[in-house]
Amino acid sequence: MANTSSVTSATSHASSSGPAGEAKILDHNYDGIREYDNPMPFWWSALFWGSFIFSVPYYIYYHVGVGPTLNDNLEAEVGEFVEAQAAALGDLKPDAKTILSLVQNDPKLKTGASVMFRSNCATCHGPEGGGRTGPNLADDSYINVKQPEDFFKVIRDGVSGKGMPDWGKRFSEPQLVLLASYAASLRGTNPAEAKEAQGTVLPQWSVPASAPADPANAPAPSGTSKPDGT
Ligand code: HEC
Repeated sequence: MANTSSVTSATSHASSSGPAGEAKILDHNYDGIREYDNPMPFWWSALFWGSFIFSVPYYIYYHVGVGPTLNDNLEAEVGEFVEAQAAALGDLKPDAKTILSLVQNDPKLKTGASVMFRSNCATCHGPEGGGRTGPNLADDSYINVKQPEDFFKVIRDGVSGKGMPDWGKRFSEPQLVLLASYAASLRGTNPAEAKEAQGTVLPQWSVPASAPADPANAPAPSGTSKPDGT
């Protein structure tokens, strides 16, 4: 019992070190077991109280909702990532061809756009675009959209007084083109949660959705006759 003997000798040492042991031994006595008053070292207490005090504003900022949540940060990063990808594609024109082929031909862009859609649009349009307070984007009926370019315009400018926000304030142009392309790509899908059709039934887009984004990627025509007939 090496411990016991060292405690005993320490106790006798402390009690011999002056009147009342300079308050080094606490008053209580458990069946003869006495306790030293050993305060934690200053650096330890400073760390403990420092982290405790730090936790209060941290909790309020990140958990009560003043600051960005992890989700907000993720969404911002995904947005930047997707925008960088979009920028790498060059100028994205908000024309029918781009809107009907951009995410349709690029699964990675489509995944990025779907994350943006779920974090910004799903509250009103449903996670798969089947519609909630906002209209169903998966069916053939549209309220504001008459032609593919309108996806871009409606998303950028919103529909004032009808509850569709103007996302032009929030997103850059390539991101808006991406969102437009993603919204267009939802047509003809089968969301689990689907709202009744609203607006007018539109004929299928005249530009095929599978049209390649870049004409350079189009298969070469098999005929070799030149336009001038030579
Ligand atoms: C706060 C709810 C809300 C959010 C969030 C929202 N929308 Fe909408 N959206 C609406 C409503 C409501 C309409 C229908 C407006 C009308 O009745 O004219 C609409 C219409 C649309 C339309 C036109 C549909 C049609 O039938 O013509 C598109 C496309 C669209 N939203 C895409 C988006 C995208 C993409 C996002 C996310 C970036 C988004 N919306 C976020 C409420 C919302």
